[in-house]
Amino acid sequence: MRTTAVSVAMVMACVMMVQASVKPQKDFNVQKFAGKWYRVGFAYDSPGFVPLRDKIKISMGVITPLPNGNVNLTMWEALPVGCVTQFYKYDKASVPGQFTYFSTRHNMVKDITVVDTNYSEYALVIKHKVFNREYTQVALYGRSQRLRTDVVQKFKALSLSRGFPRESILTPPPADNCPPSGSGR
Ligand SMILES: *[C@@H]1O[C@H](CO)[C@@H](O)[C@H](O)[C@H]1NC(C)=O
Ligand SMILES: *[C@@H]1O[C@H](CO)[C@@H](O)[C@H](O)[C@H]1NC(C)=O
Repeated sequence: MRTTAVSVAMVMACVMMVQASVKPQKDFNVQKFAGKWYRVGFAYDSPGFVPLRDKIKISMGVITPLPNGNVNLTMWEALPVGCVTQFYKYDKASVPGQFTYFSTRHNMVKDITVVDTNYSEYALVIKHKVFNREYTQVALYGRSQRLRTDVVQKFKALSLSRGFPRESILTPPPADNCPPSGSGR
């Protein structure tokens, strides 16, 4: 019992140290980041999300940079109720590649960091709330729905290094007609 408690505490301490050092992509360029992305990888281990793990599909998003450096994000998510369009507004933080947004679902401000992207193929994004491990997410975005194995491996390695259990690291299948064909996307 005691050993378990100690190791849990040590893991927590490590997780918090890692979280304090989420570094954005060097020389992040929001204009190059604009446009269409698919969320092809998703790591999330909130207990409430566990029953949905095998239901999620690849979502599509469009990033629109605003003149002040903030971004709008429109997402099409294939949910059990159908294809849902969601709008998000991310405010730029003082460091390029970092944004904040207010989560109406969790009623708190969250930080979003683009940790690694080469703009033309993939982006690794961490959503985090320091000291609140439960809501942390790692996402892999791709310009196409299929990414090369080494990029997917990079996403898995990043998620594992941030303490996500293997079963919470997902690469969902493509969505069926979401966004609906003929919607101009
Ligand atoms: C960004 O989103 C806001 C709020 O939804 C909207 O009013 C605005 O027109 C959008 N701007 C662009 C450039 O899409
Ligand atoms: C982006 O990364 C992929 C995979 O690592 C690579 O094939 C591609 O050439 C890169 N593109 C740029 C512009 O660096």
